Order: sequence, then C-alpha cells, then structure tokens
Amino acid sequence: MEKQQFRYLTDYYNEKIQRINNFQAPLNFIFITDQHNELVTSVVPVIESMRYILERCPGITFLVSGGDIGNDYHPDPNELRASHRRMMEAMYSLGIPVHCCIGNHDDGLGNMICNHWDTRNAILPEEMHLLCGKYNPTDKNYYYTDMDTADGGYRLVFLDCTDKPYLTDKNGQYPYGWRLEISDEQAEWFEQDALNTDRRILVFSHSPLSNAGIFGTANMTDRIKPYDDLLGGPRLSYHVRNCKRVLALISGHVHYDNIYYDRDLPQITTLCALPQKWAPGCPDRELGTVTETAFDVISVKGDTMMLTRFGAGVDRYVDLIRARNTVYSRSYTSEKSE
Ligand SMILES: [Fe+2]
Repeated sequence: MEKQQFRYLTDYYNEKIQRINNFQAPLNFIFITDQHNELVTSVVPVIESMRYILERCPGITFLVSGGDIGNDYHPDPNELRASHRRMMEAMYSLGIPVHCCIGNHDDGLGNMICNHWDTRNAILPEEMHLLCGKYNPTDKNYYYTDMDTADGGYRLVFLDCTDKPYLTDKNGQYPYGWRLEISDEQAEWFEQDALNTDRRILVFSHSPLSNAGIFGTANMTDRIKPYDDLLGGPRLSYHVRNCKRVLALISGHVHYDNIYYDRDLPQITTLCALPQKWAPGCPDRELGTVTETAFDVISVKGDTMMLTRFGAGVDRYVDLIRARNTVYSRSYTSEKSE
C-alpha cells in the first residue's frame, strides 16, 4: 500500500483530526505557507497527508497557500517553474479550491539578482496568474471570494505583496528583487471593493501588512537578513484597523509562529512548511518524522479561531475580539460616508 509510506506523518494525525471534528466550526480550511518546494523536500508526503485529513474531516472546504511555493534557488529557471507547477498540481489534486497569495520568492527575481542570473527569466504576473490562479476569478493576482457558511458567511481576501512595477532597466533587466509592495491600484481596490461587504472578513497576505510586533522581521540570526517593510502596507493597515469586519490577518513569510494583537485585531503568522529551523525559538525539523512539514487546519467559530498544527509546532487559539463587538449591518464604505 502506497499510503503506508506516509504513516510517519499520518499516525500522528488522528488526535488532531478528532479535535477539528469535535470543534464543529462553520468554517474550516487548510493554511500552508512557504513550502519552497524541492529546496529540501518534495511535495508528495505533505500532500498525501493532507488527503488523509480531508478524507476524515468533511468540514474542511478549501486550502490557502501563503506563498513562496517553488525552488527559486535553482539556477535553471525551468526548474523554478517545474517545482512551482508540481506543488500547484499536487494541491489542486486534493479536490478543494486552492487560493494563493503570491510570495516574494515566487517570481524568482530576488535570487536572480543576488546570483547575477538573467532576470528576463522571471515569472511575470501574467504567467504567475496562469500558474496559481485557477480559483481566482479576476485577471489580477489579488482577489476575494465570498464563502457561505451556517453562521452567515465570510469574505476571504487574498493580497498580492509582489505588486511592484515590473519595468526593465536600460539593459532589459528587472531591477526589483525581494521588494514587497502593494500598488496604489490594489490599495484602492482593497479600500473600495474588498472591504465593502456586510460579511466578516479574513485577510491573507504573504508578508504581514506591518512588521511591528512580528518576530522574524528583525533581529534574526546572522544567516538571515531582516525583512523589509511592505511598501503600501501602512495604507492597508490603516483600513484594517478601522474596518471592524476584518477579524484577523493571516500571513507567512517570516517562517515563524506569531500571534500579535494590534489592539482588537490579531495578526497571525505561521511556521514555514519548509523543514528549516530559522531561529532558536523555532521547533526542530527532522526529515522522515512528523516535523518534516508544518501546516494548520484553521477553524473559525464565533469569536474563536482554532489553529490545529500538523507537523512541527503546536496548536494555537486566537481570540477574535471583533467578532464579539461588531454589528454586521452596513458596509465599510457606507460607514465612511456617514
Ligand atoms: Fe519563505
């Protein structure tokens, strides 16, 4: 039996599966981020272990991938594309919608510039859209989707933190590598369209909108340089502070588990699926054991978000303070105009 070979993961899962099913949340989804597929491990075990979970948890209805999907450290741009595609096809094979936030490694430009490779081989936004936009109904790489649930429904917003100018210099090369950016156009869409709903909102992005209070954005061990702030981030932070329908922000990028409460708004980051220990506070990762991967099943019920961790790390709870306080009767834009 082929499935026997993944028992080093799934043998550990049954208690977690029971926890999810017992919680009986109206909204359940998988959140995985920073896979960096084939940099260390292949896609197969983690995806097959997700299939094991989905077969036993009918309440899980979609998957969110937080970005940094493929192996941009490979010098062959065809391998970058192939590793990205293999991860996407594996996630699509699970038979539930897969929603992607674009990560700052996904276009390949950061490593191409650092290694003096030809940046004309980058994955540009149109190609990115084809690679990971199967469930994106727009022609942009940011979008939202409305999810109907027994408790009134949610809007899920997926931001594109690589929304930078893809303009070439005089040598025909793309100059912006790791740059994290939200364009004015995306910010306007966020304010006027994405937040304009009577539903409760969860906002997903590769990098946190703001680095304040998030471990992993500075003071890392000397292998890792501090991360840049998200250009355009303060504008979005302003609106999520004011739009009380936004219950939580969920990101990857920093390869570390954080829960930081900005007043009444929790900002969550989760550990990388990539089996690497980035900081002394990260759990140990060992290939061939359950710590080989890390992803969450996120369950939302009322004012509680339960994160059940499969792989390295621990289960967590997040207090959705705004779910207790908000009257969901008017949209954000109509509130602003009053
Ligand atoms: Fe990453």
